Amino acid sequence: MCGIVGYKGKQQPKEILIEGLKNLEYRGYDSSGIALKDGNEIQVIRSVGKISCLEEKVNSEKLLDARMGIAHTRWATHGVPSVENAHPHRVGKVTLVHNGIIENASELKEKLLKEGVVFNSETDTEVACAVINKYYEGDAVKAINKAIKELKGSYAFCIFFEDSDKLYAVRKDSPLIVGYGDDEIYVASDIAAIINYTNQYSLLEENEVCEIDKDVKVTLNGKKVKKEILTATISADSKDKCGYEHYMLKEIMEEPVVLEKTLKPYVDNLDKLPDLTEYEEIHIVACGSAMYAGMIGKTLIEENANLRVTVEVASEYRYKKVIYDRKTLVILISQSGETADTIAAMRKAKMAGIETLAIVNVVGSTIARESGSQIFIEAGPEIAVATTKAYMLQVAILSLLAYKAALSSGLDDKNVMAEIKKIPRMVREILDRRDDYLEIAKAIYKREDIFFIGRKIDYAVSMEGSLKLKEVSYIHSEAYQAGELKHGTISLVDDGTPVISIITDKDIREKTISNVQEVKARGAKCIIISNEEITGYDHLIQVPEMSNFFQPLVVVPCLQLIAYEVAKLRGCDIDKPKNLAKSVTVE
Ligand code: F6R
Repeated sequence: MCGIVGYKGKQQPKEILIEGLKNLEYRGYDSSGIALKDGNEIQVIRSVGKISCLEEKVNSEKLLDARMGIAHTRWATHGVPSVENAHPHRVGKVTLVHNGIIENASELKEKLLKEGVVFNSETDTEVACAVINKYYEGDAVKAINKAIKELKGSYAFCIFFEDSDKLYAVRKDSPLIVGYGDDEIYVASDIAAIINYTNQYSLLEENEVCEIDKDVKVTLNGKKVKKEILTATISADSKDKCGYEHYMLKEIMEEPVVLEKTLKPYVDNLDKLPDLTEYEEIHIVACGSAMYAGMIGKTLIEENANLRVTVEVASEYRYKKVIYDRKTLVILISQSGETADTIAAMRKAKMAGIETLAIVNVVGSTIARESGSQIFIEAGPEIAVATTKAYMLQVAILSLLAYKAALSSGLDDKNVMAEIKKIPRMVREILDRRDDYLEIAKAIYKREDIFFIGRKIDYAVSMEGSLKLKEVSYIHSEAYQAGELKHGTISLVDDGTPVISIITDKDIREKTISNVQEVKARGAKCIIISNEEITGYDHLIQVPEMSNFFQPLVVVPCLQLIAYEVAKLRGCDIDKPKNLAKSVTVE
């Protein structure tokens, strides 16, 4: 959510900043800007819309002969997307870009207005800029340290001062890294921004102030801190679309490969995974799709290991009363490892002395570093805003955890392990049936309401199917427990309303089919995804039958591809759906 790039070195930074922003565009894309500095001269160029709009504007202006610059792509929080609200912001001698939210911005603004400060935007960022400027008397580190004591909320700042040739960075609850090139130093909110230039970087910790001249000096409360230099494992070409029209499609098509990579360490070797049956209760906490992956995990663990599991939305969990009166494990699921609410939920559990386990993609992210233990999924960079392959891997890991817990609870079924080895191939076969998904998409893409139904694990899967469809195609969609639809929502079903039913759980199959009959009787267009041949409806996608642990893994790709094809037919901006951003680092 929002992206930052900073540069100090021997080159004119325009290309580096614009390219960095393009690589970060998936994190926010409603407006953007750059600031260049040459001696005491500062040039700020900002634009609404995509980075390409900013690029056009930058290319049309005569630029300063700068060797230092900062840049930002924004996902609006305080204030509409507009040129005035876009970053960088400038107050007095301070120019900066900001990720995060300053929660006490209105209070601080009121005071600053009384002191005569004039504001040109509606943003909390400009307020933070004014606070730093207020304390700036020639010593930048001192001013930053004084200012961050006053700022409440989350921030990652990249800053320069009018009368200094140094670049500064500081962060709290929002990630920021420093990259090392050849006599060139970079600042970025995400390694993806600078991976074309360097894979050597350090993570800035909370409130460390980074001062960049020819070298990098990092201090915490005035004391020097030695930073470890890390090597990024993502490669520059992992950001390539590899010939696919969209990242979303590319990432779905990568699922067999990333499944293989993620599952491999555990094939015939479940010892590497924690045994959930050592706990009396499991809390799975996450947001969005990651939370829906948790719903699948809950169903599998409860059904197969007889263990109590609750799934909670992190933004609720962090504030609600949670009763920890049993031996509890809190499982945090997060692709980015930087989702603000999930981080807060993790910290809450840790404060209460509760063990935490993270299922996470980004090594070095806050959740990866702060959780008690970690299971890494091997998704690689996920660029499309709507998650696909990372969600798939979250589900796969939860399925393995459930299987291991089931074995500990007395399950004696060795066939499941043999099945794990076949999963990548089976998923590949499902992905190959593109024509089937396109045919369904053609039948439904003009509708404005679509329903998904299922029971038990099929309901858990359908929730993600519905979310995927609505976020990329903007069609209103809801998922219902199949038996619940008639308690109100069935009033919305009429002639031609698409209802996508997932029917893989044999125990409850007949019940769900009755519910499909109910909607069919009201004119619904019935699309069935099942591991059995079910005839008499408009469309059937038959998936292979698998053990209950891994059955969702062959259904999920069908739903993702239907969502993709529908969005494409509707001409949507598939990789960057409106109003969304990858990695929600604010509350
Ligand atoms: C939906 C989507 C989001 C994320 C959610 C959590 O396609 O991508 O719902 O799943 O914002 O993000 P992470 O997993 O990074 O914590």
